Amino acid sequence: MQLIKATNKDVQVLLEIEKTTIGLKTYSGYFQEEEIKKWISNDIVYIIKNDGKIIGSIAYEIKNNDHAYISGLVIKPEFRKQGLAKKATVKLLEELKNYKKIDLVTHPDNVDAVKLYESLGFIEFGRKENFFGDGESRIIMVKNK
Ligand SMILES: CC(C)(COP(=O)(O)OP(=O)(O)OC[C@H]1O[C@@H](n2cnc3c(N)ncnc32)[C@H](O)[C@@H]1OP(=O)(O)O)[C@@H](O)C(=O)NCCC(=O)NCCS
Repeated sequence: MQLIKATNKDVQVLLEIEKTTIGLKTYSGYFQEEEIKKWISNDIVYIIKNDGKIIGSIAYEIKNNDHAYISGLVIKPEFRKQGLAKKATVKLLEELKNYKKIDLVTHPDNVDAVKLYESLGFIEFGRKENFFGDGESRIIMVKNK
């Protein structure tokens, strides 16, 4: 598996990956080119490749020297339930090993995501209603060193 840093030439690729989540109340994706461009310019966004195929994306934002925020994880539907999200997240955490605090948000009904993060040492820190302005609540999960 490879994590390849996305640039502006990858906007369409990322849009295609994000579009696979349209309609899910458990994930708030970026469905506009401009949103993706802004995301790439602010965060470290990776395209995940496995066996030469693009299978998803994973991203983080550096908040400060001690704190990184995982800002996205999508595996395309046809590649799910094969342990690939876990593998990609393990790789990302290896890159982020010097950060004292890593956090993320996920929907309380996103069972696969919650289990995945718990299996990697994240714990529920709290909840926020209407986190993304979509009327849905989110669990804040944190992994501290
Ligand atoms: C959440 C998401 C990233 C999980 O991706 P995934 O690649 O399916 O995740 P994994 O395969 O690593 O793990 C999911 C489950 O598959 C299981 N699994 C792993 N390998 C497997 C295999 N070979 N056969 C069957 N099941 C397997 C895992 O054990 C896990 O099950 P569990 O939760 O019962 O333990 C994916 O569903 C997704 O992209 N959803 C839409 C976007 C989203 O919600 N992202 C999360 C944002 S916080």
